[in-house]
Amino acid sequence: MKKITFLYCFITAFSFAQQNPTGLVTSKAMVVSAREEASKIGADIMKKGGNAFDAMVGTELALAVAFPFAGNIGGGGFMVYRKANGEVGSLDYREKAPLAASKDMFLDKDGNVIKGKSTETALAIGVPGTVAGVFAVHRKFGSMPMSEILKPVIALAERGVVVTKKQEKSLNDYRDAIVKVNGAATLLASNFKEKDTIKYPALAKTLKRISKNGRNEFYKGETAKILVDYLQKNGGIITLEDLAKYEAKWRKPLQFTYKDLKITSMSPPSSGGICLAQILKMIAPYDLAKMGHNSPEAIQVIVEAERRAYADRSQFLGDPDFVKIPVNALLSGDYLKDRMATFNVDKASLSSEIKEGKVTYNESTETTHYSIVDKFGNAIAATTTLNDGYGSKYYCDELGFFLNNEMDDFSAKPGSPNMFGLVGNEANSIAPQKRMLSSMTPTIVEKDGKLFMVVGTPGGSTIITSVLQTILNVYEYKLSMQEAVNAPRFHHQWLPDLITFEPSTFDNTTIDKLKAKGYLINEKATPIIGKVDAILVLPNKTLEGGADFRGDDTAVGF
Ligand code: DON
Repeated sequence: MKKITFLYCFITAFSFAQQNPTGLVTSKAMVVSAREEASKIGADIMKKGGNAFDAMVGTELALAVAFPFAGNIGGGGFMVYRKANGEVGSLDYREKAPLAASKDMFLDKDGNVIKGKSTETALAIGVPGTVAGVFAVHRKFGSMPMSEILKPVIALAERGVVVTKKQEKSLNDYRDAIVKVNGAATLLASNFKEKDTIKYPALAKTLKRISKNGRNEFYKGETAKILVDYLQKNGGIITLEDLAKYEAKWRKPLQFTYKDLKITSMSPPSSGGICLAQILKMIAPYDLAKMGHNSPEAIQVIVEAERRAYADRSQFLGDPDFVKIPVNALLSGDYLKDRMATFNVDKASLSSEIKEGKVTYNESTETTHYSIVDKFGNAIAATTTLNDGYGSKYYCDELGFFLNNEMDDFSAKPGSPNMFGLVGNEANSIAPQKRMLSSMTPTIVEKDGKLFMVVGTPGGSTIITSVLQTILNVYEYKLSMQEAVNAPRFHHQWLPDLITFEPSTFDNTTIDKLKAKGYLINEKATPIIGKVDAILVLPNKTLEGGADFRGDDTAVGF
């Protein structure tokens, strides 16, 4: 008996206990998003009796007002939900290629990619899905009238949004690009400073029309006409027919297990769920907790799994309405065990041996994610984007919003990297009406059959690996939700064959140990990786928010 007690004490002393919460803790409901104004609108909707789906509509559209950098009605996204009764689902409101799009539209006559054509021209714009998305959610699950949900959003656009320090910098960084496309009279051409208030009267008018006339206002009404007129004047190819044909799609989310966690994430046309599942399944046999948080050994295992998953992404993934994706094969235990069979703890694998190719890439955080839990126990993870910061920079002043440049998420040419350095293949080639492959990974985690975590992030190709690390930080390393979000992140995406670390976060000893094994390190000044917004359900059923300090992200709840 004594021996057993001793053993138990020994084990508990050396196994980790979950860290106490360090983020906002509330007892009933919470929204964590990129701006306090949007989190507050979502939380207020739930205070008034609305559910998480009502709050999703309010938060998504409030981000279009308060966070024009990535929040949008000119872009698209993905939403994963888990209802209080355990039922899960997901909505795809991803942009689509216009009818007049073609496979080689970004290539010159010699078949080479024309730099900037898929990012900086009006041809970069995909048919927006956000308005269809929020109306689809509302139709299926909403409990409050749309006009009531939209009221505070419209009021925010009219009243204006106060510029934060980070926003001042972002507007400064992008001002020239925005003015170049839209001229000096465009709204965001002004030299806004921290604490200034920016009013969005044109967007308020557009939202009022949408509130009055519903979803079709955007896709078939006056708004559609103004938008198509604007796009065509600027060399775009989106027509009224493209808008009229757009539909958001309910899709079966991807579900898989990692140890005793059940994870629900986005299925194609996002690569998020499949890649996350592959990586987690490849690393499951290794004792990461024992290796230590962000230790060279743990980084090595994770990087090798990431390398292999991103190589598969490039080859196999695309819009499931157009290409057949071997989902079961990609997720089979034997296949993934086999993938890791070439992993040698003493030596880095080479991406060129896993698959050929050499590219350069940039990371950034121009998408936005929010997580919601309501007092009924429903949970929502939604990630939405214009792709690049302020999308294509095309801003329709009459309507008051930016248009995406999501067409760059297609593979313009097999093996040619997109703005995130991601390479693709036939599966992700351009075709009319097709959806471009995404990395967005809105994810909901269950433990013991109960809601455990809601998580997601922007960050282009680094989205998947940031979501992965956040889950591991809580589950394997027992960090609080907020600490798990704060923890420094690293990333590998097969090509380029480099590990990227967040600036000044990992010590030289760790990096040197990896270098000694042959790992190539991205030595450039690298930007932050991801801006994770997450919620953890604590053992006493209260909620802990993890709002990323890398942005203005804020948790609000009650
Ligand atoms: O769907 C995707 O994967 C990208 N368009 C997401 C872009 C993004 O996260 C921008 N921020 N870096």
